[in-house]
This record gives sequence, C-alpha cells and structure tokens, in this order.
Amino acid sequence: MAELAIIGGTGLASLANLQITRREVIHTPYGEPSGPVIYGVLSGKDVIFLPRHGAGHTIPPHKINYRANICAIQQTGAQNVIAIASVGGIHPVLNPASLAIPHQLIDYTWSRVSTFFEENLTRVTHIDFSHPYDDTMRALLINACTGANLDVCPNGVYGATQGPRLETAAEIDRMEKDGCTMVGMTGMPEAALARELGLNYAACAVVANWAAGRGGSAVIKMEDIEDTLNQGMEKVRKMLEQFVLLI
Ligand code: HPA
Repeated sequence: MAELAIIGGTGLASLANLQITRREVIHTPYGEPSGPVIYGVLSGKDVIFLPRHGAGHTIPPHKINYRANICAIQQTGAQNVIAIASVGGIHPVLNPASLAIPHQLIDYTWSRVSTFFEENLTRVTHIDFSHPYDDTMRALLINACTGANLDVCPNGVYGATQGPRLETAAEIDRMEKDGCTMVGMTGMPEAALARELGLNYAACAVVANWAAGRGGSAVIKMEDIEDTLNQGMEKVRKMLEQFVLLI
C-alpha cells in the first residue's frame, strides 16, 4: 500500500519520473475526484498521484471537488500527503521558479464547500487548525530539497484566493500587510479537509510569477508563467525523488 499521496498542481499534471502501475476511478460520497487516482513507483517507493486540476488541466481552482479528492486519497490508505502548489511570490525572496514550504496560511476564498462536517451530524465538530501544515512533513520536504541540492525557502504564509483571475496590486498590498508571503488559489479548503480526515498534509509551493504589483513588471504574462513553472516543476520532480527516500 502506498503511504504517500502527491497532489499535482498547475504545471504538474503528470510525473515524468513515476512508473505508473495502475489507475483507479474512486467514487466518493462527496462526488467524483479530479480524475482517476494514479498508482506508481517513484525511486523504488509506492506512491499515489492525483492531478488536482484533472489530467488535461481543465478544472479551475474554484470548481475543484476538494472533498472528493481528499476523501479518495484517504480511501487509498495513504496517510501522508504532499500538495504541490503554484503560487505568486509576494516576499522579495520568493522569486520566480523558487521553492518554498509554507508554515501558515490565510484563507480569502469564498463559497467553496470547505468541510466534511456539515451533514448528518450527531454533534457539531470543530478541528484544531492552529498550525495548518504537518511539521514532520514540512521538515522532510526541506531535507528533500537540501538532498537534491535545491535552494528552498523553509517557511512562508500562503494566502489562498478565490481565482480564477489573478489579484489586483492593491489586493496583494493588503495581503502583504496581513502577513502573506505568497498567493495561490488551491491551498484552501484542501489543507483543512486533510486535517479533518487526520492526514499528514504539507505543501511545496513553486513560485510561478511575481504577484501583482511586485517584481517591477506592469502586467503578469501567462506565457512567462508557463516557462517559469516548467523550470520550477523540474525542481519539484528532483525534490520528490529525494522525499520518497526519506519517508
Ligand atoms: N496569484 C494567485 N495564484 C497564483 C499566482 C498568483 O499570482 N501565480 C500562480 N498561482
């Protein structure tokens, strides 16, 4: 049984270094996940892989069935989850194509179904979410980057926005004042749902672009994002090869 699940984000719809053994369509009480769960072997270790936006990158952030994805991962028996997430860099050290392991998040999303605890309850359930990312998984991610000779920013505050549009420069100014160092669209409710099911969840952020109003460019060009993400995801593949040896 694979103990590790990898959720692929924008730029990582497939893992070139994964030897795929099978695909499984998993139906959940919450509907259909983004696609079949992919089982495979990475550096000799069994892992499962689920591309968050679907195999053809067709599901936008606000339309992802986060509950079905997390539930499907739990049904495979995987206890540890790495989420790969492309972000815009707000803090000056988070330059394009760099990697960061966030330790905190702020949720700016709205009207997303964000809990498993809302129907057929025998009692109201709250979860502790003071520290949204699993610290053991975070430490392993940082070690895996070091092992792969990759620079990594070992912390950060992930601001989760609704999308699919990018932010205004003023929104990014406000997020920076709030303490966000990076901005992405898929970090929530994914992290909270994983916590609700007791999974060990951490994220590896890949900086796709300077956030709006940062980095000296007046506009964010989609073709630049694609080039940068290709570089960043190459790093992620190397990091993951090391990660599976550590866990
Ligand atoms: N904003 C929100 N999400 C993102 C960005 C951004 O600038 N870049 C990649 N994902």
